[in-house]
Amino acid sequence: MKKKLLGALLSVAMVATLLTGCGSTGSESTSAPAADAPAADAEADAPAADAEAAAPAAEANGKKVGVAMPTQSSERWINDGANMKAQLESLGYEVDLQYAEDDVQAQVSQIENMIASGANCLVIASIDSSALVNVEAQAKEAGIPIIAYDRLLMDTDAVSYYATFDNKGVGTAIGKYIEEKKDLANTTETYTIEFFMGSPDDNNAHMLYDGLMEVLQPYLDKGTLVCKSGRTSFDDTCILRWSQETAQQNCENYLTGFYADEDLDICATAFDGFAYGCKAALEGAGYTADNWPLITGQDAELMATKNIISGSQTMSIYKDTRLLADKCVKMVQAVLEGEEPEINDTEQYNNNVIVVPSYLCTPVAVDKDNYKEIIVDGGYYTEEQLAE
Ligand code: BGC
Repeated sequence: MKKKLLGALLSVAMVATLLTGCGSTGSESTSAPAADAPAADAEADAPAADAEAAAPAAEANGKKVGVAMPTQSSERWINDGANMKAQLESLGYEVDLQYAEDDVQAQVSQIENMIASGANCLVIASIDSSALVNVEAQAKEAGIPIIAYDRLLMDTDAVSYYATFDNKGVGTAIGKYIEEKKDLANTTETYTIEFFMGSPDDNNAHMLYDGLMEVLQPYLDKGTLVCKSGRTSFDDTCILRWSQETAQQNCENYLTGFYADEDLDICATAFDGFAYGCKAALEGAGYTADNWPLITGQDAELMATKNIISGSQTMSIYKDTRLLADKCVKMVQAVLEGEEPEINDTEQYNNNVIVVPSYLCTPVAVDKDNYKEIIVDGGYYTEEQLAE
């Protein structure tokens, strides 16, 4: 029974995803995950079809949930929005799903409209959360609870809960992957490395960087890792709005400026879009399979997973957006029913005003050795999609 309901929910998510699968501007591809089973890693907190989540539609009582998403330019947010909409609708909620295409003011207006049109709860994945402080205060005044989705809403006391992945854990997982693959703890070799970090207005980007450097900084200090551009700080390596084009330009500049005589061995990137940008720059500079660097990413997008299989990207961080939506939907239900949702972190996410009670899902590093087990067996993509 549980499984059937979950299957139905996820199939709806898949159809909705396919219907909204357009508007790609940055990524190489925006196809949807095939989702009819929970992810392999998600056993412990498998998505959702328990009695609580599957409360009868009548309980939702026509309540309206505004879901504000940042952009359709990368596949993950399309999937996030589709999963949220499908799961909320299956519980009887009316859903107003909006994408702001990385336009900060557009997101402010969308949220204002949600408030004006009588939303009972807001779910926000912000572009630049510092721009949302006023509109969040308006929501609070109107008694509308807010849940932060994936990205923390900073500088506000109007946010009730936060559903996300362990963002520092994402950085640590990328760092550990590099450490293991290059055997940094034992090697006598040195490896060149360049960094491509996330948007400075996204708290996740800072946490990822902290996690990554916790692992890699000692090797930079020892000289096992050599960053020839000298750009290792967050400020020097962050890329506004997670732009793939900027990542490509930065990589091109590094290759021409610092790697004329020596190959670049590692592109430590924080996002699959950046990995695509580095791939394009490396191809342009004449890199081949013989000297192709280790390239990291995040999100395990369909294109990234294909690139992992073909060898032009080394790894990514798999974040099961079905699971995140499930956790977030449970938060929506709880705040609207006056109940306490499940949380597992009450310490890490201080938004400068309050510590936001959070549920952290677990990110998983995927590469060509484990993608079948994690991604295919987990029902996220089918072999057919990956072969297309
Ligand atoms: C998310 C990542 C995503 C990035 C770019 C971050 O806030 O946590 O999963 O890759 O935004 O969209």
